[in-house]
Formats: sequence, structure tokens, C-alpha cells
Amino acid sequence: MAAERREDTIGKGLKDYYRDYFPVGVAVGGRSVFGPDTALIIKEFNSVTPENAMKMGPIHPQENRYNWKEADAIVDFATTHGMRIRGHNLCWHEQTPAWLFVDSVGDTVSKAILLKRLREHITAVVSRYKGRIYAWDAVNEAVADENSDDTTRVLRNSPWYRICGDEFVARAFEFAHAADPEAQLFYNDYNTERPEKRERVYRLLRKLVAAGVPITGVGIQAHWSIYEPSATDLRASIDRFSSLGLKVQITELDISIYPWEKNRRARRPGDSDDYTPELQQRQTEQYKNVFGIFRDYKGIINGVTFWNITDKHTWLDNYPVPGRKNYPLLFDTAGQRKKAYWEVVHF
Ligand code: GLA
Repeated sequence: MAAERREDTIGKGLKDYYRDYFPVGVAVGGRSVFGPDTALIIKEFNSVTPENAMKMGPIHPQENRYNWKEADAIVDFATTHGMRIRGHNLCWHEQTPAWLFVDSVGDTVSKAILLKRLREHITAVVSRYKGRIYAWDAVNEAVADENSDDTTRVLRNSPWYRICGDEFVARAFEFAHAADPEAQLFYNDYNTERPEKRERVYRLLRKLVAAGVPITGVGIQAHWSIYEPSATDLRASIDRFSSLGLKVQITELDISIYPWEKNRRARRPGDSDDYTPELQQRQTEQYKNVFGIFRDYKGIINGVTFWNITDKHTWLDNYPVPGRKNYPLLFDTAGQRKKAYWEVVHF
């Protein structure tokens, strides 16, 4: 430990400890790359994912208008500092622009029109960053949740699905591949370690692979907690997905100190957000365990990205419980390395 800390004075960061394994990335906004965390980002990480800037709503607010400003700033920042860039994302049912699913009088568009819009969107965005963005989340969260009522359907009942059926998934990959044949393309989702969701995702991936769709791999979002996943479940998912010949990336890693809840709810009396030594210890162990597994899958896992930088700001503050603080990352609220950091780099 002491030796590691001394080495740190000569500037070793997460990316250096993992140099022989995979790039280590972080989700950023336009402000975070030019703010107090800039030095930390450059020191610790060698990959970035724009947290929101490339989602369809922010980047394509009107049918004939793109908003490149924040996305360009992040790409320029990463390029300047020799970092990789993961594009996120090209097709998702959330954070969509208001015009996307309707025509000028507000009626739902046809499948042909929606697929044309998808093609134009993907072609514009992927072409702009061709050769600079090495990997894209082509489709995000298209699979139904594990508690979904209909167990025969693989896909979520989203506007994409209602208008296009299954087809939009394969088309999104094809449009992206046509715009940049070198880019790695991923299907990205959460709760992929839960057995039922794992199987649905697997069925989708198997179908895409069998149809010759240009997919590189699967993004395991990894919005995890101190309670899950178990090592067995995580290994089972990586084994199952990679059995199709696919790569795996960990794309949105954080380890919440609370059990997973998908839906918003009010704070309840007795809800505590004390970050107790016991919770810190459990979190440290979970980080240590999952990184051990990531290293075991060297060659299959070709990227690990954290979702946000330090505990000072995380999307899990106020979500899903307004007014509740969370501490899910490797750097504390002051940007200092937590105990979990040292367990992750000490192997
Ligand atoms: C999902 C999306 C991310 C982000 C998180 C919450 O995981 O893929 O882009 O919106 O939810 O921050």
C-alpha cells in the first residue's frame, strides 16, 4: 500500500494500473471537462463517455437542427488529451426530442418515416465523429425489464417498438456501421446480471448475431449496489454473452449504497443517507470483487467506464429518492481516492 501511494506521487492513475487490461473511462459533461475535476479526469482515465451531450434529445432538438456544441467540446477535450471516446447513444426511448415520433399535426409517424429519421440521425452523428469515436452504444435499453408482464416479448413496449416492431434494433446497428465501418457497436442495458433479463438480452443478441448484424458487443451498464450482483450472476452474464463471440464492456459503473429501485419515490421517515463505515466497507468489498472478475475476463472485457467522477456529484443523488445523497464512486466528495480505490488498483 505504502509503495503504491509513493508511486502515485509520480502520477499513476486508474488507467495506468489497468494498462494491460482495458481502458478505464468516465462519463462527463461539457462543464466537468473544463471544471475543477479536469486534472483528475486526465490523471485517472483514458476514455470518456458524454453523459448526456450525444443523446438524441440534446444533440438533435429539432428535425432540421443539431446542437453539436457540448458534444464537440467533449470530443475535442478527449482528443487533445489522447483519450478514447465512447459515443452514447444512438437509439433509446428516453431523452428523445419532442418531434421524433410525431408528424407536424401531432399524429404518430409511420414505421417508414421513423426508420428514415433514425437513419438520418445516426448517419449525421456517427459521420461527424468518424475516426474519433471508437465505440458507440448503438441501441440503449431496448429489452423489457425482468418484471415485465409479458414474458414472451423480448423488447420493451416503447414507441420504437410500437411503431417499428423488432426491426429498429438491427437497423440502428446497420446505419451506424454504414456511417463508420471501423466503429465498435454495442447493445447497452442495465440489470443484465439478473437471470430473467440476462436471458432476454441474450435472446436479442443471439438473433442479431445470427442475422449478421454488425454488433461488436454488449454494454453491461453496471448501475450496481452493495447488494448485487453476486459474483456468480456477473460471471454467468459475461459467459453467456461472450459465448456468442461478442465483446463485453462495463459502461456505466457505480456501486450504490442503497438497494436498487427503478421508480421514483418520496423519502420515507427513517430513510438515512449516512455513509457509515460499515457501508463503506461493504462497498469496498464489492468494488474489489467486481474488478477481480473484470481482470479474469481480460480479452473479453475491452472497456470499463464509471458513471460520473466523484461522490460530490452523481446522478444517484436525488434519484430515485429526492433529497437522498449517494456515494457510489471511487473518489470522495473532495475528489480524494477512497479505500475502494486502493483495493481496485492493488492486485
Ligand atoms: C441510463 C442511461 C444513461 C443515464 C443513466 C442515468 O443508464 O444509459 O445515459 O441516463 O441511465 O443517468
